[in-house]
Formats: sequence, C-alpha cells, structure tokens
Amino acid sequence: MLPGRRPPRVLIAASILDSDLGRLADEIRRAEDAGVDRIHLDVMDGHFVPNLTFGWKTVEALRRVTRLPFDAHLMIAEPGRWTGQFLDAGCDSITFHVEVDPAQVRPALERIRDAGRSAGLSVKPGTPLEALDAYRELLDVVLVMTVEPGFGGQAFMTDVARAKLGAARGWLDPAGACEVQVDGGGRAETAQVIGAGGTDVIVAGSALYRAPDMPAEVARIRAIADTARDATLGS
Ligand code: DX5
Ligand code: ZN
Repeated sequence: MLPGRRPPRVLIAASILDSDLGRLADEIRRAEDAGVDRIHLDVMDGHFVPNLTFGWKTVEALRRVTRLPFDAHLMIAEPGRWTGQFLDAGCDSITFHVEVDPAQVRPALERIRDAGRSAGLSVKPGTPLEALDAYRELLDVVLVMTVEPGFGGQAFMTDVARAKLGAARGWLDPAGACEVQVDGGGRAETAQVIGAGGTDVIVAGSALYRAPDMPAEVARIRAIADTARDATLGS
C-alpha cells in the first residue's frame, strides 16, 4: 500500500473497540469478509484517555489473522516510547495525538516515516488544525476526531466535522499527498457530512459491529460517503 495517497473512493476502517473482544480474530475476519478496507486499532493507556485497551503484543498476534492494513490510533501519553514496538508489530500506519508532550512528536513521526510506514497526527474535537502546522511535511495522515477519544458508540459531533474536514482537506495538499481520516460516530447517518468534507477514510466501530448485516452496512456507508465526496472533490 502506498502511504499517504488520496484513495479514489472512501475507505472504511473497522474499529474493533466495540467488537466481541473474546473472539477478536473472528471479529477481524468478519469485518474483512464484510468488505472493509482496513482495521483500526484503538490503543489507550488510561492516562491520555480515561480508558484502557490493548498494546502492541495484541496487535502483533492479530497481524497473523488478516492481510488488511492495520491503522494504529495511539491514544497514549508517550507515543515515542512505543513507536518501535508498534512498527515491529506490523502496523501500516501509526497515528498519535498532537496534544501529547511536543518533544515526543517530531521524533516519533520521523521514526515511522523512516520505517516506510504512514505517519499520522490526530486532533481532539477542541484542538484546532493549526496545531498540526509545524509537522505538515511529516504527515501522511490527519485524523480528525469527531468524538472525545476514549470510548466507542458516542454521538458524532457534526459541528466539528463541518468546521474541520473540508479545512483539513484544503490545508493539506488538495491533490491528495496526505489522507484525511475521520474517527468517532462514523455511520450511514453521518456519512454524507463526512464525504462532503472530502474525507478519505471513515473509521466505524459500533456502526459495523452492532449492525445486523455488516456487509450491507459497509456498502451503505461507502455509497453515501462516496457520492458526497465526489460532489465535493469531483470524481
Ligand atoms: C474513540 C476511538 C474510535 C471509536 C470509534 O476513542 O478512537 O475509533 O472507537 O467507534 P465508533 O465508530 O463507535 O464511534
Ligand atoms: Zn480511533
């Protein structure tokens, strides 16, 4: 996979946060069979966010389950401390938060890039895109959070999406040298706003894992987002 190139259609990344964690391998295969493009791995440390999930050992074990790309979303206070482990575990992209200690940011992005993977920064709903300015040339991914990070199943922040998604697309190379991802509340009901923002990747957790028919839901979200994205960017 070429990192950081705008995909021709909206990609769906399945967040396993709200899957049946007792059957994680099966849940990843289920998402793959449903047609998702990537697996989104929410890593939480109980410090940066008020929740704990899993670490690089789990990612390493899951790497054997699927050939789909792994997007790691590190919601941890010290991403620089763990970058090497998540690279070795087989992540195709690693995104962490710009709100961490600034001394961590540039070295970690460079390390991810040096390993030939995609490097990303995420902004919480209250963090302006300008916080990314200093790192622009190091970014393959910008991850816009449309919920407060920490938990799946929260309500999509439409105002944040409207304010930031199009702006992120414009702020980045409009030709698509860097991809824009949206995370939090991605579902069929929010796919129009997401696609209209020119978004490249929709992270969807509860919408997929709680859907009665996951393949149909993947197709529905993608179709709505694609139509809106084409209208914005031109097909
Ligand atoms: C929130 C996570 C998201 C979330 C997505 O901290 O980063 O990836 O789990 O789940 P839904 O789609 O349910 O909002
Ligand atoms: Zn996430």
